[in-house]
Amino acid sequence: MTLEILPMVEADMDAYFDIIWAAFAPGLMALMYPNGFTASAREQSKQSYLREWQRHPERTKMMKVVDHSLPETHPGNKIIGVSKWRFFTRDRSEAELAQEKAEAAAEPAIPDHDGPVCEAFGAAVSKCKDEIVGRKAYALLYIVGVAPEHHRRGVGKMHLNWGLREADRLNIPVYLEASEMGRPLYERMGFESLKTMPFDARDFGYPESLEHTCMLRPVKGKKATSPSELKTAQSLSKSTPSSKPALHQRKPMPSTGHAIEPAIRHCIPNGISA
Ligand SMILES: CC(C)(COP(=O)(O)OP(=O)(O)OC[C@H]1O[C@@H](n2cnc3c(N)ncnc32)[C@H](O)[C@@H]1OP(=O)(O)O)[C@@H](O)C(=O)NCCC(=O)NCCS
Repeated sequence: MTLEILPMVEADMDAYFDIIWAAFAPGLMALMYPNGFTASAREQSKQSYLREWQRHPERTKMMKVVDHSLPETHPGNKIIGVSKWRFFTRDRSEAELAQEKAEAAAEPAIPDHDGPVCEAFGAAVSKCKDEIVGRKAYALLYIVGVAPEHHRRGVGKMHLNWGLREADRLNIPVYLEASEMGRPLYERMGFESLKTMPFDARDFGYPESLEHTCMLRPVKGKKATSPSELKTAQSLSKSTPSSKPALHQRKPMPSTGHAIEPAIRHCIPNGISA
């Protein structure tokens, strides 16, 4: 078997950030980190990830796809795709939700990021999550990225299959915010588009909107049938179907505003969004 999906270990963190940067930059990552993903940004992100992982080992899962056919000299331990998930296996109280947000907010700021971009993106992510899943039990696909030279080999699908199987075992729906690049994969895996995330990269001088779509895969991929299932599904997707957000008031071009190609992203690789 050439490709294999396995749990990540701490020693894989550098490979993880290399892949995330390669997969998401240029694009929102470049907008968020206009001077690149500097060594200090990487180190702080890594520490933040490790804290979350160690604090919530049952909830936070990080997976890697390894290509065993790559040479031993491969710089990233033969890792060609990574994903990070959070599994909230039961409904949470207001206090628990507040605690989760406080934990995320207590993380030190990542150096060298663009504050307004990250804040606006993080706020949009939080708003959608609060509206769509709120305190309900659900699985979050926080991020999935595949090294560009290994796209369309089924690696993204392997990550999705792993997470969906886990969510099915736990009997919970799966939620994510899809980049335009990720959306075809998610549609194919049974996710439904609920709404467009209220974030428009043009507000920050970017030439394209970098639209993200909030998507939900119902429990076991099934539409609700019984009245109780219907009630749960309604509370999980009380938002209206996908629609364009109202354009925000335009902000001036950032002074660093170098050209960034349209791309992707569904979450920030550093825990800015709770
Ligand atoms: C999105 C991403 C994870 C997909 O990974 P991948 O390993 O290339 O995807 P797979 O090979 O598993 O694709 C499975 C199916 O998804 C669909 N798909 C995947 N990428 C697609 C694309 N760029 N355009 C259209 N359909 C696509 C296809 O149906 C594909 O099956 P096929 O190749 O037999 O036609 C990868 O393109 C990536 O890392 N992109 C940059 C980061 C990103 O946007 N991540 C998603 C954040 S929401």
